[in-house]
Amino acid sequence: MAKAPRIALVTGATQGLGLALVKGLAQQLEEGDIVYATGRDGIRLKEITAELAAVGPAEVRDELFDVSDPDRAQQLADTLAERHGGVDIVFNNAVMGVAPGDDASAIVGAYAQVNNFATTRVLRAFGPLLRDGGRLIVVASSLGTLSYLAPVLHGRFDNLATLDDVDTSVAAWRDAVQDGSAFGGPWPAFVNIPSKIAQVAAVRTLAAHRREDDLPRDILVASVCPGMMNTRTSQVWWDVSDAPTPDQAAVALLNLVKQPVQPEQYGELVRDGQVVPWRPTA
Ligand SMILES: NC(=O)c1ccc[n+]([C@@H]2O[C@H](COP(=O)([O-])OP(=O)(O)OC[C@H]3O[C@@H](n4cnc5c(N)ncnc54)[C@H](OP(=O)(O)O)[C@@H]3O)[C@@H](O)[C@H]2O)c1
Repeated sequence: MAKAPRIALVTGATQGLGLALVKGLAQQLEEGDIVYATGRDGIRLKEITAELAAVGPAEVRDELFDVSDPDRAQQLADTLAERHGGVDIVFNNAVMGVAPGDDASAIVGAYAQVNNFATTRVLRAFGPLLRDGGRLIVVASSLGTLSYLAPVLHGRFDNLATLDDVDTSVAAWRDAVQDGSAFGGPWPAFVNIPSKIAQVAAVRTLAAHRREDDLPRDILVASVCPGMMNTRTSQVWWDVSDAPTPDQAAVALLNLVKQPVQPEQYGELVRDGQVVPWRPTA
């Protein structure tokens, strides 16, 4: 029987790591497979599909996916389910960056929407569509562990039962940043930290429910840290001129697609193939 084409999707694919993942998947997958480059800028997406038309063997297609739209993840998942019967690889990568001069209380609403509520929506919408051998990967950061959070706050993100619980914790943090009560308290000043911890917590929560069924099917649900890269998001904070390019950083993430699932990586935060401990080690 002919193998079903594999279907991949990357969010935030108009630049940086997302674009590198689309390119790498198009090269790594096979003829007949399809990689959906998604984003909120339709003109840029058309440029990308034209630029990557010959990079294949897999085909690159574009789909509008503004992750801040609360309905779009489910709509797109339904469309792909109808079109292809399921999905095989999803990278939840989109990020709203912050700059050093930004007023955290002014931006945190949009920030939590794009980086966190969108992540749980993608997990809910695409998780049920994963076929055998599937990968559902959230691009997070090494900052996304409890080591970067005051112990008094660990319970907000540790051992949460449902993705709704993760959203509730994110909303409480967002509200505290918005009304100023987070400042001067135990919350880290850098909004990236609670946001990345919440992404990793969301993956851990979903993975706890799916692990037993997924491992025999060679399905991986995990979060990843790509390491410091030279992209728009990092350039505003640091001199990253010597940091790896997105294409270089994408290699370790693409290996998680290529290689059989390592059970110890399931549900965890993975950096360069190694698990980054969720809880502080002694
Ligand atoms: N850069 C680093 O050193 C670093 C380190 C650790 C982790 N990471 C993580 O790696 C991932 C990729 O980061 P990056 O550095 O490649 O970022 P980037 O170059 O700034 O690209 C971010 C992407 O997200 C898209 N995006 C923003 N808002 C969106 C929305 N509402 N809907 C859909 N797409 C949206 C952007 O689209 P537009 O082009 O339309 O703006 C862009 O394609 C992120 O999760 C980031 O947190 C990065």
